[in-house]
Amino acid sequence: MSRTRFPSNGRPRAELLDALEAMRDGDADWRHGRVPLYVFGATDDVAEIGKAAFNAYFTENALGGKRAFASLRRMEEEVLGIGLDLFHAPEGASGTLTGGGTESILLAVKSARDAQRALRGGRHAANLVLPVSAHPAFDKAAVLMDLEVRRVPVAPDYRADVAAMEAAIDADTILLVGSAPCFPYGVVDDIPAIGDVALRHGVALHVDACVGGYVANFARELGATFGPFDFAVPAVVSLSADLHKFGFCPKPASTVFFRDAVRAGAAGFDLDVWPNGRFATNTFVGTRPGGAVAAAWAVLNFLGREGYLEITRRLLAMRQDYEAGISRIDGLAVVGKPDLSILAVGSSDPAIDMFKVADGMSARGWIPGLVRQPRALHSMMSLLHEPAREDWLRDVAASVTEARSAVAPAQQQAVY
Ligand SMILES: Cc1ncc(COP(=O)(O)O)c(C=O)c1O
Repeated sequence: MSRTRFPSNGRPRAELLDALEAMRDGDADWRHGRVPLYVFGATDDVAEIGKAAFNAYFTENALGGKRAFASLRRMEEEVLGIGLDLFHAPEGASGTLTGGGTESILLAVKSARDAQRALRGGRHAANLVLPVSAHPAFDKAAVLMDLEVRRVPVAPDYRADVAAMEAAIDADTILLVGSAPCFPYGVVDDIPAIGDVALRHGVALHVDACVGGYVANFARELGATFGPFDFAVPAVVSLSADLHKFGFCPKPASTVFFRDAVRAGAAGFDLDVWPNGRFATNTFVGTRPGGAVAAAWAVLNFLGREGYLEITRRLLAMRQDYEAGISRIDGLAVVGKPDLSILAVGSSDPAIDMFKVADGMSARGWIPGLVRQPRALHSMMSLLHEPAREDWLRDVAASVTEARSAVAPAQQQAVY
C-alpha cells in the first residue's frame, strides 16, 4: 500500500460528492443483481426507512445507551425482544445487538468457552465440532481463544453429517454448531438431530442462522420443509441471526441470543481495570453506530410479520424460478436442495468446468460467487436478484457453451 499525501487544503462538498459518484464507475453493479453477496435488498421503501432512521441517529453512539441515550437502549431492547419472540426463546433468554455475524459468533463461542471454564474450573483444552459448511467466523473465534476446530464433512445432501459430528466429540468438546442455513449450499442442517447428540453428550449447541434467520421461520410458515432450528429445539443454547442480511436492515447489525442468564453472562465483558472505573459491555466492540440500532428498530416495525412473510414468499418464488431456468440449461444442476434463497449451481457434465463458466460470467459483467466443493456458481439472492433472472440465465447459458469448448484453464479463484 502506498502513501497518499494528506491534502493540505479541504475541497468543496459538491466536488467531493461528485468525486464519490465518479469513483463508483469501476464498481460492480449491485443495484441490478450483478453481485452475488455483500448487499441485500427488499423493497425501495424498506431501504428508505432504514436510511432515514440511520440518518436520524447518525451521531449517537450505542455504547452510551446505558448512560446517555435512553432512546437507543429502548430501541435495542425492543429489537432484541422481537428476536426472542421470533426465535421462540424461553423465559430468561436474552440477546445482544452486534456489528455483524462474525461478532455474534465470537460472542457465542466465548459464551461456550467461559461457561465451560466455570463448570470445569479454569483453563483446559477445548474444541468446537462443526460441519465443514459452517462459516469461518468460528475459526476466527478459535484463533482468538486458542481453541481447536474439528470440521466434519457434510452428508451427501450437503447437510451436517450428524453421525460424523457425534464421532468427533470428546471430553473437551465445548460446542456443536449447526447452520440455518449454511452459506455454501443454502441448506438448513438438521438441528433437532444435532440437538439430540448435544443432549446425549452434555455439549452446548449453537445455531448459526446469520444468513437466513430473519426469514427462516416465515419460510416454514409458507411450507418450507426444513425442521425447527431455533430455541424450540431444547438443546440450542445460543443462536446468531443477522439483521443486515435477510433482516434487510442497514449494516452493521446482527443479533446473538442466549437461552439463559448464565450463557449470556459468559458472553459479555465486565472489566474493572482502569482509572475510569468499571467497563461492562455485552459486545466485543466498544463504540457502535446509533444509526444501526435506530434503523433496525425502524425496519422491523415498518415491515412487521406480514411484511417479512410477503418478502419471504417472493424470495422463495424467485429461487424456484431460478431453479426452473437452471434446469433448462443442459449440463447444469442445483447443488443439494436449497431451503431459502442461496443457490449453488454445479455441473452434471464433466465437460463443464463451473469455474470456466464463472470466467464467462465475469466477462459479461457479473461477479460470480464460487463454491469449490463441488465446483459451482454461488448466489446469495435477495430481491435485488428478482429482475436480473432472465439476463443471468441467458449469460449462464452462453458461458456454459463457451466453457464446453474452452481449452485454457479457468481463471477464477475461490477467494472471498
Ligand atoms: C452462515 C454465516 N454465518 C456468519 C457469517 C458472517 O457474517 P458477517 O459477514 O456479518 O460477519 C456469514 C456471512 O456471510 C454467513 O453466511
